Amino acid sequence: MCGIIGYTGPLEAKTILLGGLSSLEYRGYDSAGIALFQSQTLTSHTVELIKTTGKVSLLKELCDSTPLLPSGCGIGHTRWATHGGVTTENSHPHQVGRVTLVHNGIIENYKTLAETWNFSKQLRSETDTEIAACLINQFYENDPIQAIRKALPYFEGSYAFCILFCDHPGEIYAVRKISPLVAAYTPSGSLAASDLTALLPYTKQYFVLPEQSIAKLTPYRITIFDENGDKIQPELLTVNWSMDAAMKNGFPHFMLKEIHEQPQALRNTILPRIVDELPNFDSDQIPDSAFVHVNKIQIVACGTAMYAGMVSKSLFESMLKIPVTVSIASEFRYEDPLIDENTLVIIISQSGETIDTLAALRLAKEKGSVTLSIVNVKGSTIARESDYVFYTHAGPEIAVASTKAYSVQLAALYLIACRMALACGKMTLEEGKHFLQELLCAIPAIDMVLTKKEEIRHAVSHLTSVDNAFFIGRGRDYAFSLEGALKLKEISYIHAEAYAAGELKHGTIALITDQVPVIAIATQEAVYTKMISNIREVKARGAFVILITKESASIEEGIADIHMTIPNLDDSFTVFPIAVILQLIAYYTSVKKGLNVDQPRNLAKSVTVE
Ligand code: AGP
Repeated sequence: MCGIIGYTGPLEAKTILLGGLSSLEYRGYDSAGIALFQSQTLTSHTVELIKTTGKVSLLKELCDSTPLLPSGCGIGHTRWATHGGVTTENSHPHQVGRVTLVHNGIIENYKTLAETWNFSKQLRSETDTEIAACLINQFYENDPIQAIRKALPYFEGSYAFCILFCDHPGEIYAVRKISPLVAAYTPSGSLAASDLTALLPYTKQYFVLPEQSIAKLTPYRITIFDENGDKIQPELLTVNWSMDAAMKNGFPHFMLKEIHEQPQALRNTILPRIVDELPNFDSDQIPDSAFVHVNKIQIVACGTAMYAGMVSKSLFESMLKIPVTVSIASEFRYEDPLIDENTLVIIISQSGETIDTLAALRLAKEKGSVTLSIVNVKGSTIARESDYVFYTHAGPEIAVASTKAYSVQLAALYLIACRMALACGKMTLEEGKHFLQELLCAIPAIDMVLTKKEEIRHAVSHLTSVDNAFFIGRGRDYAFSLEGALKLKEISYIHAEAYAAGELKHGTIALITDQVPVIAIATQEAVYTKMISNIREVKARGAFVILITKESASIEEGIADIHMTIPNLDDSFTVFPIAVILQLIAYYTSVKKGLNVDQPRNLAKSVTVE
């Protein structure tokens, strides 16, 4: 939920930190700050804090107007507020005595610690983070690692810290539990950050800091100490993204760029898994043995990832004839789910760091279920803790509103369903080949929709002046509408609600009055006539109807104010072009309202706190 970064090396730390925070800003953007070593003499050092509410661009202006000595070592933070309001005092870094730190996560027992150790009198902020700084400072007697090691057992919750000790110039100490932290020693110096986007300009090799180990970063090396104080070597990973991938490359917003990247993201995700025209997971090291004993599937995720799971439910059930449950991770983790060793638990997460989803994964493993995660970020916590991982290859998704990740998650689910059906004898080889051909047809269908984006841009004019909107559909179209409503909600701030079209007349239709926008999705042929009846019902009450159908659909005059079409795909695959239409509707509505499309208010890209 926040972004942290540390740098120590021969270059100007302020520049490196501000650049890194700009890359991390999508993780949270209420406030930002940096702390820099300032060495007045060879033996006299201080740590200067510069922090402010608002965007990183404001922090940069503040830094430029603050007299600073050149510095090669510092830490930085961009915040999504959890404890304490959006104020300068609550922004990070926090400094207590000789300790200065930045934090991503939540110290859940911070109030107990403040009372137990009587920190309250020295506090300047309302944050849990400052309590952590107090405790590490309390234990600090010139040995940073010892002080950190003493404090860690007291912290309940999640954390990724970058820590400075004012009498250890040029050194940064990093430690994590649950919250993500990657690091790299590079020719430009040593770096640690919440995710790869901040390391990309400097390195192609990095490592994920093992939980509870402590990294000491100096300009010349990174040393990692395990819980026994022994030095350990981390597993080195190679970045599979280009620097370009994390830039806008001429698009006005990351979201529009990522919408356009969907055809390639799908090719990158699907094609490496096709061998002899059939799905093949050998390169993922996911054996058929993971599937053949399964008598139930439990899908768990949050937000858009969960809605991808909702779309796949009917596909899995129709192909495998076993029950599929889709659960919200933040609910699932506190339930006593009916899962066991014969349940396949599919975890879906673009970031691989969503804390509720990670907790759900851990619960599933406690229950003895086989866990298969669909993740976009290589080496992320969820990926590393799952029995099997199916990496999507969408590249970095920077916009808070998920688009290409949704499409590749669907593709992953479709491939898994097909592979499972073949492994369990529920699908013939010919059927499998045909299924894959249908799946691949979704890619040109998306290209087709993208050629109509100007039509979609004009169509949304009506939405820019409304406070409420409804998305309706039947069957799979209802599952598609859930994601459409979320997209519109989160970036245009219109209260959008998805509804099963057949359910409208049981109450909600009371809200349909003159010119209330209703986005009606009607691509499922078995329920098409029923869907048209529902559209007539809302139209009769004055709704402004945006109707989305296949090209071949025949519609009566006057039933819709706007009619958009997608290519004639099999019902199971219409979600792919439909998703792009719904993404573009949300995108253009947000742009026309002059809102911050990539960093909508109150949100952050990765929800790593409860
Ligand atoms: C979707 O547009 C949102 N950004 C959000 O719902 C997101 O899908 C959810 O937080 C899950 O994130 P994850 O896929 O990284 O776990």
